[in-house]
Formats: sequence, C-alpha cells, structure tokens
Amino acid sequence: MRRPFVGGNWKMNTDLESGTVLAQTLAAQWKQNADVCDVVLFPPFPYLQSVARAIDGSSLALGAQDVSSEVNGALTGEVSAEMLIDIGVTWVLVGHSERRHRLGEPDSLVAEKFAMAIASGLSVVLCVGETLLQRSAGNAHEIVVSQLSSAFERIPSDALERVVIAYEPVWAIGTGVAATAEDAQGAHGVIREFIGSRYDSELASGIRIVYGGSLVPGNAKTIFAAPGVDGGLLGGASLKAADFLSICSSAMIGIATGSAG
Ligand code: 13P
Repeated sequence: MRRPFVGGNWKMNTDLESGTVLAQTLAAQWKQNADVCDVVLFPPFPYLQSVARAIDGSSLALGAQDVSSEVNGALTGEVSAEMLIDIGVTWVLVGHSERRHRLGEPDSLVAEKFAMAIASGLSVVLCVGETLLQRSAGNAHEIVVSQLSSAFERIPSDALERVVIAYEPVWAIGTGVAATAEDAQGAHGVIREFIGSRYDSELASGIRIVYGGSLVPGNAKTIFAAPGVDGGLLGGASLKAADFLSICSSAMIGIATGSAG
C-alpha cells in the first residue's frame, strides 16, 4: 500500500505573519504521523525558516518551490540544494507548470534540477502535465510521457523512493475546473506504465503519483478514491487551514478505499 502524500504549494502568497500562523495552525491540528501520510508545506523562500520553526516537532515536512540545477557559484538569485538542506528543507518541487510555462523552463533544465536535488539527498515532487491546447489536440498523454522521459534520464532506480510525481494538467491549475477522477486515473496509469517501462513493475507499483489542479474539499475525496491516485498537490486550498486539513484527511480515507491502480 502506497503512503498518501499531500503537498501545500503556497506559490507567491502569504507574508511572514500569515504564513507563520498558517504553519502553526496546521502543525497544531494535524495529528497523523508521517509514516501514515506525508504532509509537506512549500512556502515561499523567504519564509522557509520561520515555517521550519513553526512546524518543528510536528509530523509536517518542509519543502521549497524550486531549486538550482547548480551546486554553487555566480548565479544571482538562485538557491542551491545544499542551502535548502542547511535550513531543514527535505522536499523540493521541480518542473511546476508555472515555471515551465510562465517562466520558460525547458525540459532540459527541469531534468538538471531533478538530478541535482536527488544527488543532494532531497526528496522531489516532479510536476508534469499538458496544456489545454495539447489536450484538445489529443496529445495529453504523449506530452506527459515526453516530460517524464526527459526528467528521468539521469535518475537511478534506488532514488525512486524519494520521488513523488504530481500530475497537474495546466488547464486545471487555478481555474476551478478540476480533472475528473477518470481523467486523473487515465493519466496516472500512463505515468505508472512509463515508470514500469523505464525501470520495472515493482518500482512502478511503489511510486506515488498525486493529482494537482483545483482540488477543494468538495472534490478531493472522489479524485483520491480513483485507482492509482495517491494524494494531491494543492495551490489555493493549501492557503486555508481548514480546507487543507480536510483534504489531508480525505487523502487518507480516499486512498484507503480506492484500489491500488
Ligand atoms: P490550485 O490548487 O490552486 O489549482 O493549484 C494547483 C497547483 O498548481 C499546485 O502545485
């Protein structure tokens, strides 16, 4: 049985005070152990340390929204894996669609960041997903597979236990239009099949694949109950403690009731 995973990607939201209060509230109210469900907060870089203090001693983990592909040096504005590890970060997001599409990150850079984060010992949520145009053209699964092929080129099989793949269709992010459970199930199946052919069937059945895009308390349970959906990566709903906690609980229930996929 795969352990559920829920990530809260705060994106470029909150401020020092509201982010700290949000993290303190979540730490006080989330009572499950990390060995039954991974819950990871991804605040903006400037608030990482304050969130780290707020969740200290809880089962919540700390993640960063991005990481440099380089070790160190003359790279103005970049943040290295070592710097993140230094302040208690254990997870990073790589390849989020806003970085791919709004900031122009190509597959090759996503692959470099992914390899660097893994080589540094971090755990990674690798995000993939198609745009509406690509979906309308009937290419959704092909795009996802091509993003995966590039990203996993340099990832050794023994690192897969530190990888979660987030299927985040671009058309569902921040739009209020979530994928259906069937859509998510189909894409997750394609992703698992890719891991099976790139590595082996045991690793494919062990890797966690989560859904992201307009998840709210009202749709999470249904999507999480779909076979092969192991949790979620949340944007908007992760900024409201009650919604986030409700979705975390749904991940535990939905995944327990859904089949392996
Ligand atoms: P929303 O939940 O706001 O649609 O964002 C999803 C997302 O991009 C999480 O990384």
